[in-house]
Amino acid sequence: MTHGSPLNVLLCGRFDAAEREAWWSALRCAAPQCHWHRDDATFDRTLIDAAVVANPEPGALAALPKLRLIQSLWAGVDKLLADTTLPTQVPLARMVDPAMNAAMAETALWAVLGLHRRFFDYAAQQARAQWQPHAQRRADEVGVLVLGAGQMGSAVAARLSAQGYRVVTWRAREAAPLVPLLAAAEIVINLLPLTPATRGLLDASFFASLPRGASVVNLARGAHVVDADLLAALDSGHLHRAVLDVFHTEPLPVEHAFWRHPQITVLPHVAALTDERSAAQVVAGNLSALANNQTVANIVNRIRGY
Ligand code: GLV
Repeated sequence: MTHGSPLNVLLCGRFDAAEREAWWSALRCAAPQCHWHRDDATFDRTLIDAAVVANPEPGALAALPKLRLIQSLWAGVDKLLADTTLPTQVPLARMVDPAMNAAMAETALWAVLGLHRRFFDYAAQQARAQWQPHAQRRADEVGVLVLGAGQMGSAVAARLSAQGYRVVTWRAREAAPLVPLLAAAEIVINLLPLTPATRGLLDASFFASLPRGASVVNLARGAHVVDADLLAALDSGHLHRAVLDVFHTEPLPVEHAFWRHPQITVLPHVAALTDERSAAQVVAGNLSALANNQTVANIVNRIRGY
């Protein structure tokens, strides 16, 4: 920061204790010129210029009269936008972190390799002591459809293309017809933002448009998927497998059918965790821009929803 008085910044959200301390030290180290406050201690609401947030309780950002920036530590801001008390006039920045994009590309590559080379099937066969080789296909014979062409979708598409897969991307905003792309996809990877337009997109008709034997990888939000329709498509044998990182309710309730379904692989929302070290640098850059009246990066378009 080159001029003006130091910003007062609030770290606010739902963290476990270790996470909170990690963020607290990473952020103060990246932006030592700011006055830092935290919502698990007393602070003066009238001082706060910016809030750095991770999944805050609804209402947590109301009644901060000087607030000029909300910086999310999460890439997806659907939960924040669902908070009707979120001040509408305050710019909201989502997290765009190259380290997160790289992690997402790794997870997508793992899932696609596992599906293409049938490593998930071999793991299931091992549980049955079943020695059964399957035909080996080349990556360029496998059509992968990436839903979403934003930061993460693009990183995933680039990584899979470099690996030799036949990759096509689709973005909700372009409104290009999805059905012909689904018909040619053997693996679909969902990286869309959750908006009213994309909620429930992965439903019975979506699955029916995929060729028999296709698989679905959901790395975006649980609410993109109609769970009962996914289960029906797997149980009927139309879909081969699903790899799921995100769920309507998280943690996924122990009684949920996904946990024990033989064609489903469950991850506990870890496809791309926010990396404190690199994300703190991103936050520091935006706080510095705010202090210097420069453009803050990655402001969410509230109408569009991401
Ligand atoms: C994770 O899901 C995120 O939005 O950062």
